[in-house]
Amino acid sequence: MDLEYGKFFSSDVGSFMRSPVREIFKKVDLSAIYSFAGGYPDAATFPIEDIRRISAQVLEKYGAKALQYGATQGVTELREVIARRYGVPVENVQITTSSQQGIDVCTRVFVNPGDVVLTTAPTYLGALQSFKSYRAEIQTLEDFCLAVGRTTAPAGACRPRQGRGGTTSVVGSEEIGDFCDSAKISDSCDSPRGSSPGRKRPKFCYVIPDFQNPSGETMTLEEREKLVRMAREQDFLIVEDSPYRELRYSGEPVPTIYSLAPERTLHLGSFSKIFAPGFRLGWILGPVELLEQIYVCKQSLDLCPPILDQYMAAEFMGSGALDANLRRSIALYRAKRDKMLGLLEKYMPQSVSWTHPEGGLFLFVTLPEEIDTVALYDRALAAGVAYVAGSFFYPDGSHRNTMRLNFSFLDASRMEAGVKLLAEVVAGAR
Ligand SMILES: Cc1ncc(COP(=O)(O)O)c(C=O)c1O
Repeated sequence: MDLEYGKFFSSDVGSFMRSPVREIFKKVDLSAIYSFAGGYPDAATFPIEDIRRISAQVLEKYGAKALQYGATQGVTELREVIARRYGVPVENVQITTSSQQGIDVCTRVFVNPGDVVLTTAPTYLGALQSFKSYRAEIQTLEDFCLAVGRTTAPAGACRPRQGRGGTTSVVGSEEIGDFCDSAKISDSCDSPRGSSPGRKRPKFCYVIPDFQNPSGETMTLEEREKLVRMAREQDFLIVEDSPYRELRYSGEPVPTIYSLAPERTLHLGSFSKIFAPGFRLGWILGPVELLEQIYVCKQSLDLCPPILDQYMAAEFMGSGALDANLRRSIALYRAKRDKMLGLLEKYMPQSVSWTHPEGGLFLFVTLPEEIDTVALYDRALAAGVAYVAGSFFYPDGSHRNTMRLNFSFLDASRMEAGVKLLAEVVAGAR
């Protein structure tokens, strides 16, 4: 008998958004093509020997406790190690089963259907998936600034700043400057809190201040301070998603938004890019009152994060093995980033520009207006090269002439062949 399954689904299901990146993975064998599409770390950074040693140590030290259920907040040993590393009290640390869960749980705890969540444009696709699944109204920071009477938004928040030739110069600076020139946002908000009837107060603003996915851009201190000022004036929370923060290859670290506004920021961290994504471990730093609700919510999600993994992560981070591995990973990724920038310079047509990230795993490419990277995708795939169309990272699906490229996954020789091929596909699209 044929069942009509549709009637069983909840009304939320209609808001679920399929990840185009995961659809790509389903369609193609990544090892058979030159893939700049995923956000996969280089497998050479996975500390397999450390993991072998640490797993034996943990089982020796904790025995059955390492295989038992544990506290919903996470095991104390891991929370303590994270608290020490980031200079916060242990009660401000909640362990999550990946930072994707951190995003999801924050949305679930703070957002009713129809509530406004502010994001940058572009932004992380997995976050858009969460926001949509809870039926949030996604508004760009740019639009919000206009709505509250500001002429400018915090810059890292707007369009990626692109250039060629190893510069970080702004392309189309007049347009972007108008919106993103930090100097212009120093005046206090023209529209005091609550002065605009009918306008919904956002619940939170979601940002990835360090080496953003997809743009690779980093918010300056001034931009972070502006965002904090705006959050305080307009009374919304900030969700600072920072899985790439420790992967800096050049330039100086910028203080976290959490350090600037600990009273209204939830800082999400992840072991995925500094240990191994297969562990599915992350953390949230935040005010105890907010973490308390997140803790209750997480009870129904997974009872507790994986215990054995947490003990291993605690040992890896606490013993210094993480820092040693991070130094090797940073050296590897710095060389890959530099190689990628050099190859783009060498092969891409003059009309193409891209961002110059100081860290992370991605850069963002802008093609001439008339090239549609969604339409071009099948041709690229047939030629043997994959990217993610940039428009997928824009809440409104705009910017169809952009693409995100990952530079961590391919090794150097395959990277050259891949960029050459991609440049040929782009040149052929005109
Ligand atoms: C900005 C951002 N946040 C969160 C995640 C998810 O990370 P995790 O593996 O910790 O779930 C990613 C993964 O690529 C990401 O780019």
